[in-house]
Amino acid sequence: MAQPITNKQKTIKPKTIKELQAKKLNGEKFSMLTAYDATQAMLCEKAGVDIILVGDSLGMVIQGHNTTVPVSLDDMIYHGKAVAKGATNTIKMLDMPFMSFAYKEQALESAKRLMQEGQAEIIKIEVSTQKHIEFIEDLSNNGVPVCGHLGLTPQTIHKLGSYGKRGKDETEAQQIINNAQQLEQAGADMILLECVPAELAKQVTEAVSVPVVGIGAGRDVDAQVLVIYDILGMSGYIPSFAKDFLSETGSIEGAIRKFGLLTIC
Ligand code: KIV
Repeated sequence: MAQPITNKQKTIKPKTIKELQAKKLNGEKFSMLTAYDATQAMLCEKAGVDIILVGDSLGMVIQGHNTTVPVSLDDMIYHGKAVAKGATNTIKMLDMPFMSFAYKEQALESAKRLMQEGQAEIIKIEVSTQKHIEFIEDLSNNGVPVCGHLGLTPQTIHKLGSYGKRGKDETEAQQIINNAQQLEQAGADMILLECVPAELAKQVTEAVSVPVVGIGAGRDVDAQVLVIYDILGMSGYIPSFAKDFLSETGSIEGAIRKFGLLTIC
């Protein structure tokens, strides 16, 4: 019979974004994993994951869409609430879904809902134009912790045409480095780099003092993030930068722990 998801670690001090920023300054790494429901969140917390990303990847791995474009703000809030029930001490980052930040006021309103209803402690925005950096500055000035997502931005897939690596030529690579520095100046608390060459990720990580989290971006970043279904071998295929830790360890908790341990080494 199903049992209520209880969090046995209620007395433990909740993790903070400031602590993760301090880790970067001390040369320590941290871990981030996606989770979309209370049980996954509870297991992530038990395994010591530092940040849970309630990513709009839920549109693909849970809702079965081909892209993240159909995901709504209400979907994000629904999953954010569930995750918050399972993990009270782990930092929760929620994605701003497609078209929920098309203009400044909308970005503020969406952030308000993600934090007040979806229980986000930091929100993530895919930065595909310069105006997104201005929105992030405005959000930061209003007390909203933000992670700027650079490199491959899946919400613009219909413009990009493929999920291939970004920043392969010198112009695009320099643009990504510039954007990372602009994001830091705008008040972003973290940067996520998706699918860029390892050397570029290393340069970006060295160019900013806020933590840089990578996915498909090599080892020389401050943290790794993966989609939980990929490390459990449930996605139908395993991206080259992920690994099925479930078949290696024999349990979901073991798989999350193994991911976390590898990530901080
Ligand atoms: O939505 C998501 O899960 C993400 C990760 C792939 C980084 O943005």
